[in-house]
Amino acid sequence: MDEKNSNYINRTLKKVDPSMAKIFMPWILKHPKSMYAMMRLAKSYRKSRKIRGEELLKGLKVPPFLILSITSNCNLKCAGCYVTATGTICNQRTKNSLHLEQWIKIIQEAKELGVFAFIIAGGEPFLKPNLLKISEEFKDRLFLIFTNGTILESQEIEKLKRLRNTIIMVSIEGDQDLTNKRRGIGVYEKAINTINELDSKGVISGISVTINRKNVKFWMEPTNVDDLISKGVRLAFFLEYIPVDNDTELMLTTEERKKFREMVLYYRETKQIFLVHSPGDEEYMGGCVSAGRGFAHITPSGDLTPCPVSNIATHNLTKTSLRAGLNSQLFKIIRESEHLLETNGSPCALFSHSEEVNVIVKKVKAYRTSA
Ligand SMILES: C[S@@+](CC[C@H](N)C(=O)[O-])C[C@H]1O[C@@H](n2cnc3c(N)ncnc32)[C@H](O)[C@@H]1O
Ligand code: SF4
Repeated sequence: MDEKNSNYINRTLKKVDPSMAKIFMPWILKHPKSMYAMMRLAKSYRKSRKIRGEELLKGLKVPPFLILSITSNCNLKCAGCYVTATGTICNQRTKNSLHLEQWIKIIQEAKELGVFAFIIAGGEPFLKPNLLKISEEFKDRLFLIFTNGTILESQEIEKLKRLRNTIIMVSIEGDQDLTNKRRGIGVYEKAINTINELDSKGVISGISVTINRKNVKFWMEPTNVDDLISKGVRLAFFLEYIPVDNDTELMLTTEERKKFREMVLYYRETKQIFLVHSPGDEEYMGGCVSAGRGFAHITPSGDLTPCPVSNIATHNLTKTSLRAGLNSQLFKIIRESEHLLETNGSPCALFSHSEEVNVIVKKVKAYRTSA
């Protein structure tokens, strides 16, 4: 392997986060065929950071990544799923969902503004026909596709082997019992098969977990994290349960949140897995990073919202540009309201300040995207 290239990638990963290099470099060295794709990503990461800096000098705050809820369809009905509560999953509205070509146009504009990475969610993204065309079209951008892992075909995994700019994030809740109770019978088995198949084909994968009162103990047990690492998983998103339908029964207690955070920090020190913890990490970044501070969200029909859990918008990207949406009064007021961005011991800042958010909605004449 070319030492110069691997040094360049190593340095770039360290710029993103020092522990990223420690976790991903061994994987890259083990899969030398990924080197070319990683070099391309490293170069475009640096370039997009420069573009965002230039945009900021001109007054536009561009986030490093966008969350695209690419479809409003889903084949599961997981308990407490926020997308059902916010109206993102609603099969009647499928007819308004953007076509792949419209998503490609939005990603192109985002790329020109300096967005580097895209989280693809939904609904279930793999229900969108030809989903991977997006990763093929933009080989210099990073895609993380969040999936329930039940419908991924072998031919798609074959394609991923060549793509390298796409990480598949499979959602599980914990073991078989915990996963199937929240997601449905047989879901755990299919999700684990998908994780195993991705690993056996040399495709990098991760998991996404909704941390709640029922599974928090499971994830505080280090051997369960070791088990995942042994399955080839190198990335995990721990998303604390947000009680969108006012059902607070699953929400962590203050004590559980504190202990879980301590455990995340311990895993970061000791385990070969890159962890993203929400809202724990956001608290270290000065509060909620929605509304373009760190990311923004686009609904299946193209509405630009501060985050996937917040269903308010003033701009629809079939009618206006992303630039205009990021520059909107709605986004600016949220970004500039320090108090609004504090999580206050809740898993979601905007959710815990819903009254203040309602005042802003009226002020800027925003609409509810689930309407
Ligand atoms: C909404 S799903 C969409 C992608 C795909 N259908 C899946 O299940 O991964 C994305 C992630 O959000 C998590 N999630 C769903 N409802 C949540 C809630 N109320 N609070 C926190 N995370 C939630 C899911 O567990 C999943 O890992
Ligand atoms: S599979 Fe994903 S989108 Fe579908 S209900 Fe479950 S969490 Fe929600």
